[in-house]
Amino acid sequence: MRWYNAPGSLEKSIVLKEVKFHEAFQVPWHVVCRGAVCAERQGVKGLSQSDLERIARLYQRLQTYVGWTAADLTRLRTAWPLVEPHVTSLVEDFYAAIQREPETARIITGGSQQIARLKLTLAAWLAELFQADRDAPYAARRWFVGYRHVDIGLQAEYVSAAMSRLRIGLVTRLLADWKGNAHDLMETLAALDRALDLELALIDDAYQTEYRRRLQQMERLATIGQVAGGIAHELRNPLNVIQTSVYYLKQVRDAPPQKRNNHLERIERQVRNAERVIAALNDYARLPLPVCEPVDLGRCLRDLIRDIQWRKGTVIHLRLPDEPVTVSGDQRQLGVVMRNLLANARDAIGENGTVEIVVERSAEGVELRIRDDGCGMTPEVLAKACDPLFTTKPRGMGLGLALVRMILQRHGATFDLESQVGQGTTARVRFRSTQEGSP
Ligand code: HEM
Repeated sequence: MRWYNAPGSLEKSIVLKEVKFHEAFQVPWHVVCRGAVCAERQGVKGLSQSDLERIARLYQRLQTYVGWTAADLTRLRTAWPLVEPHVTSLVEDFYAAIQREPETARIITGGSQQIARLKLTLAAWLAELFQADRDAPYAARRWFVGYRHVDIGLQAEYVSAAMSRLRIGLVTRLLADWKGNAHDLMETLAALDRALDLELALIDDAYQTEYRRRLQQMERLATIGQVAGGIAHELRNPLNVIQTSVYYLKQVRDAPPQKRNNHLERIERQVRNAERVIAALNDYARLPLPVCEPVDLGRCLRDLIRDIQWRKGTVIHLRLPDEPVTVSGDQRQLGVVMRNLLANARDAIGENGTVEIVVERSAEGVELRIRDDGCGMTPEVLAKACDPLFTTKPRGMGLGLALVRMILQRHGATFDLESQVGQGTTARVRFRSTQEGSP
């Protein structure tokens, strides 16, 4: 990776200004530095290595996009002595605006002590903006500022508004105090613009990333709630039947042997039903990570077509390329996917229905289509078909397609369904070309 840094270290240049911050905010210097130093420590603490790498890559791409170069950092470092005497007034103005606006004022729950601390953090943030090396830790620290603001419940719009205020303040001070030529001034203002826009982009990414993560968490929780309700419903039925039969057997001690047997068989059947529910849930909830190996789709499909009990008169067309088609995946899990899709096609067709199974290679990868000419689904049913515990079958758990979707997601493959009432349904799975295993 290549980072655009100008010579000179941040530490040296900040320490030289110790006295000014100290005097302005009446606190020891190490607290002023806390903003920069702690942000680095805390900021990276919650982030995984892959998060850090992603942020570093994003930051580099954005730098290239806005045309940020080492010269920009040199210009900012040169301008810092002009900005530095105004940091106090800029910071004061920044927090005065926050305290005036009810929506931002309500976020400050720690009163004047918190404000005093925040002022120091912002001063350190500004010092870094003008002086720090733009390396991976810098990107992580600045991204973390966004994350911190999501955490405190601040709407992203206010960060943009505050940034605008800061930008105008900085530009005004630079314009007023500039002693050099107009060209250098323009270049410096452009460098400042790029720097602030990069900050906003990182903060924005932190907001988006954190919102997405929270949404996924909420969806997971909602699914757990939905599944828990479904289990209760699915198990209540067999348990009620078992309870009734046990009650009968206890009460009627000299029941005729035929009736006794009937009840015992009923109990056995319901225990099997309950086991089926638990096995389906287990598959869904404890799906292990796929262990990938080359999977021969044609062979797998032929075996499954042989295993499945089809309705009388079903016509099956299996169209495969001449050469074996293999994809990289978990043999057992891809087997579950294909079995579920074939079983759905079987359940959708009536007698003498047709199921067409096609495997095709394309530039993008491998496509598997399973099409039936059965009853099809209404748009409402289609929209919910992959939701866990949604089923239209009298004896279904509603986990089949949810499992299909989850397995394919974990394989990086895509899955979609097309359906029309009375015409039939097509299930389409696309494995990307990188997933193709060696034949
Ligand atoms: C340009 C916009 C802003 C910048 C550059 C900025 C900068 C920072 C920095 C550097 C931190 C410390 C992050 C850390 O914990 O490492 C922080 C925290 C925080 N900021 Fe901002 N901020 C901005 C806008 C705002 C706004 C508009 C509010 C409005 C209430 C706000 C409220 C806070 C609060 C409450 C914290 C948590 C501080 C604590 O730990 O008590 N910030 N900000």
